[in-house]
Amino acid sequence: MKYAFLVLLLIAGVRPLPAQHTIVQNIAARVELNLDGRWNYLVDPYENGFYDYRHQPYDQSASGAGGFYDDKKQTDKGQLIEYDFDRGPTLKVPGDWNSQDDKLLYYEGTLWYRRIFQCTLQPHRRYFLYFGAVNYESHIYLNGKKLGTHKGGFTPFQFEITDKLKEGDNSLVVKADNTRHPDEIPTVNTDWWNYGGITRDVYIASTPETFISDYQLQLDKSFTPTKTAEALISGYVQLAGQPSAPQAVTLDIAEANIHTTVRTDASGRANISIPVKALTRWSPTNPKRYAVELKCSTDQVADNIGFRTIAVKGQDILLNGKPTFLRGISIHDENPLIPGRNRGEGDLRMLLTWAKELGCNYVRLAHYPHNETMIRLADELGLMVWAEVPVYWTISWTNPDTYANAEKQLSDLINRDRNRASVIIWSIGNETPLSEPRLDFMSRLAAKAHALDNTRLVSAALEVHRKGNDAIVDDPLGEKLDLVSFNEYAGWYWGDKPTDLPNYHFTIKYDRPVVITEFGGDALAGFHADAQTRWSEEYQQALYDNQLKMLSGISALRGITPWILCDFRSPRRQHPIYQNFWNRKGLISEQGIRKKAFYTLQSFYQSIAKKYPE
Ligand code: GCU
Repeated sequence: MKYAFLVLLLIAGVRPLPAQHTIVQNIAARVELNLDGRWNYLVDPYENGFYDYRHQPYDQSASGAGGFYDDKKQTDKGQLIEYDFDRGPTLKVPGDWNSQDDKLLYYEGTLWYRRIFQCTLQPHRRYFLYFGAVNYESHIYLNGKKLGTHKGGFTPFQFEITDKLKEGDNSLVVKADNTRHPDEIPTVNTDWWNYGGITRDVYIASTPETFISDYQLQLDKSFTPTKTAEALISGYVQLAGQPSAPQAVTLDIAEANIHTTVRTDASGRANISIPVKALTRWSPTNPKRYAVELKCSTDQVADNIGFRTIAVKGQDILLNGKPTFLRGISIHDENPLIPGRNRGEGDLRMLLTWAKELGCNYVRLAHYPHNETMIRLADELGLMVWAEVPVYWTISWTNPDTYANAEKQLSDLINRDRNRASVIIWSIGNETPLSEPRLDFMSRLAAKAHALDNTRLVSAALEVHRKGNDAIVDDPLGEKLDLVSFNEYAGWYWGDKPTDLPNYHFTIKYDRPVVITEFGGDALAGFHADAQTRWSEEYQQALYDNQLKMLSGISALRGITPWILCDFRSPRRQHPIYQNFWNRKGLISEQGIRKKAFYTLQSFYQSIAKKYPE
């Protein structure tokens, strides 16, 4: 059946897509069946459902059968089957498993999910199974057949399942394994909780046989306005299916009175370049998005896109050509009130609303790609975004598989969010120690990001070192990046007290805008003492006071994202009183209490906002 179907496609000149391929752009606009909800599960610390007793993978055996993905049911009393999803417990999807069952709070290993669904197949439609994110390594099976695997806990992936779906019940089985390994991305050591499981949406999307699989539309920042055009929308559209036959694709932005047609080439691609008379720019104070529609003879897709330019000039960051200051805060993808990965739009909107309350026009989404919904909300609410891949601390720099993994995660992030006006910076990593292999690894990542997207800035949290009160930033990676960004923990890890901070001086090798990616200190909400007492709100407040004074001394300072909006869970925080597995550097506690330093930063941002009107 499969091969007959493939031959049919080839005769019809339709080029089938590889099983797992680059994400269909804006796939959320094509949902056919949402698979979120309760899934049965089995915990499998010894991967008993994957390996036979000789530790050979069942799905590599001649029959390919034998594992839990067979989803077998006992049909007669004599039959031996040592698992049963139907009678097993359930977990909510999307959602990490750690916060859904106390027994799983610290669990790192394999857990099997199973979901039964029915899907009515329409002729001449193609079907894709999409996962927003599964942490960390996943093996996906449909009706006992392996679709493929995926690595990376924070990027989306999908499989074409057109010829694998059946009428009636379909059995979808996911082996998710969040075991940490040195050669992975991230590696074994992180200061965030290693939440496992299917943490973002799962759905089946459908498209026509020939469809619009990708597009990018944004303002060309190198365009010089003319008498007839104040801006240039540039980008491309890519068809999948029958690209061999050049097609007309129309682009409509009705509100801006833009209606144009482009023709695809033999590969199904057409470049777009439209001079525009008048267009309202997207900015944090006016997050204007336009309804955009792309149409070809067999397909159409709609999106909401904001148009803006972001660039650097000397020490300035220019948003729509005007100097701006990034009034930011760092955020983890975790709901502090109901500990666990954010579960839906409500959680995400809450965090961004708190950032707006703080006076932010910018957020650093640390240290990995956050939910696509978060980015779309940033578009809507008017928050510029620093988006990052988890190349964090001591990565295996010389392992080519590790590099390929990092580059894939970066590409998937950029491909997913390339039409989001809010995203202004792609970050290739955080606090990675100096070495030649590291410089080579990171330089290649920087080049990849620039190659994939020339409309945004590329950066990373660079290394900084100290000589006495002199903090020196001369990390060679800085040469490859558009900004000078680094974390500094004066007043906390740098062993001094907040009042010493004004004595510090920064020597920065690169003449570029400086964006401080982290500073901060822990405070247990409600613990009050004098400003010299660590863990107290007063200490954190004094630290912020003096940090802001110290940093204002950097002439090229054009942005900050203090660490961090909310207290967050971390396996590296063992103090039984002040931490209890929480990193307490939040300005808001896990009960939602705003600590004193929250208001220190809020008033600083009020003054900065006056200096840099948007
Ligand atoms: C580091 C790191 C963060 C961490 C923070 C801290 O710089 O980038 O992930 O949580 O410092 O120690 O609190």
